[in-house]
Amino acid sequence: MIYITRRERFNAAHRLFKEEYSDEKNMEVFGKCSNPNWHGHNYELFVTVKGDVDPETGFLVNLKTLSKMIREKVIEKIDHKNINLEVDFMKNKMASTENLAIGIWNQLEKSISGLGITLYSVKIYESENNFVEYFG
Ligand code: NI
Repeated sequence: MIYITRRERFNAAHRLFKEEYSDEKNMEVFGKCSNPNWHGHNYELFVTVKGDVDPETGFLVNLKTLSKMIREKVIEKIDHKNINLEVDFMKNKMASTENLAIGIWNQLEKSISGLGITLYSVKIYESENNFVEYFG
């Protein structure tokens, strides 16, 4: 069993808030991420897959194929978008990095299985110091 990771990057806006809370209460619970006029992050996404090396190519997977898949299923839908308003797979969810990792996992899992390999983890850096990892 071998693991390989592809990194992709995207920029997106979001706001963490609950409609029933006041702006003050949202600020107390969600901090700066509750700014009423949105804000953005430079997200880094790490998709790790696992499987066996193909003896013919020496590869686990062609990384170009994997990258294209991640771009089609995730990056094109989210890059330079508002996660709360414009991203179909995040509809009706709190736009947290945790939910984003779960949403991206669900976007990718089936297609990656279709390549004969297994999705192992989705890791997202929201900032240099904060990241989330999801293992399904
Ligand atoms: Ni934020």
